Amino acid sequence: MTSDEIFEHLRERDVNKIIELYRKADKIREKYVGNKVFLRGIIEFSNYCNNTCSYCGLNSNRPGLKRYRMSIDEIISAARICAEHNIGTVVLQSGQDHGFSVDWMVEVIRKIKKEFGLVVTLSLGQRDYHELKEWKAAGADRYFLRFETSDDELYKKLHPGKNASFTDRIKVLEMAKSLGYEIGSGIMIGIPGQKLESLLDDIALFNELDVDMIGVGPYIPHPETELGKQKIQLQNVDELVYKVIAITRITKPYTNIPATTALATVNFLDGYKKGLMCGANVIMPNITPIHYKSLYEIYPTRLSKLSEEELIQKIKSFIIECDREVGKGRGDSLNFLRRREAF
Ligand code: 5AD
Repeated sequence: MTSDEIFEHLRERDVNKIIELYRKADKIREKYVGNKVFLRGIIEFSNYCNNTCSYCGLNSNRPGLKRYRMSIDEIISAARICAEHNIGTVVLQSGQDHGFSVDWMVEVIRKIKKEFGLVVTLSLGQRDYHELKEWKAAGADRYFLRFETSDDELYKKLHPGKNASFTDRIKVLEMAKSLGYEIGSGIMIGIPGQKLESLLDDIALFNELDVDMIGVGPYIPHPETELGKQKIQLQNVDELVYKVIAITRITKPYTNIPATTALATVNFLDGYKKGLMCGANVIMPNITPIHYKSLYEIYPTRLSKLSEEELIQKIKSFIIECDREVGKGRGDSLNFLRRREAF
């Protein structure tokens, strides 16, 4: 697809043409990655954060927010939910938390590997080479870090303060890739100040970085953040998200693409199904203990009221309703496997 064609799709208002795009993406999804939908259990193990991202409810400018960091035993108990439900991957996610040591995380990874043999994805923000290397050696498989937007000006507005460099963020992904991690990235759509044109650059960057997993979600205003009060310029944001999912499936057919939690928030639970029907092949149920979930409000979501069990059961039934199969095992990105073979 040329850049002009992509732009036409993004601007398209004709419902039939939009549905045609989704159908095309769905066919490509079936052909390249099949009918299995892989689940990844997310454990939001710490809401401590050093950063001041203007969109995120965990940013360090929220003195009123109670902070928590789960113990290793609590993390292991949560990971057990994955094992019990045949979910092959656990995602360890936190804010930009520098309150745990490299070795602490090594122990967490080793224990999960030893006890359950799960695939371990890390989503811990911008980390340095040494940390990424140690965690890879301990058994971590994947690293997930969204670049959020490739528009430099907008990126600066989102990330005031020290850790603000877009280049530094991209470097983390490059480092993780060079260390042998399968890498995931992604964007938000609907950020105040975001332009349709910049989505073209975002899609091009997914290709340039050769990411193995692409997470795209709508920006959801958080009332207690700086950005939460500003106006969103883009129209039909959730439709745009589905379009970008479809376009990324078509342009990068071997990647894993989740129907994201933010989509399931703005289109309550149906967002999962709609995502699956326009190119997605992954869903990431949150398996954080319910009493911590409400403290991990990146953005307000009703989903945090559901227990781990309820959410997993609901997601499994959606998958069946969409005539798809619940994937078992690792669910590695074929994009990653193909890249590895090439070396
Ligand atoms: N709306 C939607 N997504 C958000 N994220 C953070 N804040 C918001 C928000 N207000 C996403 C970012 C981040 C991921 C963990 O959550 O893309 O990378």
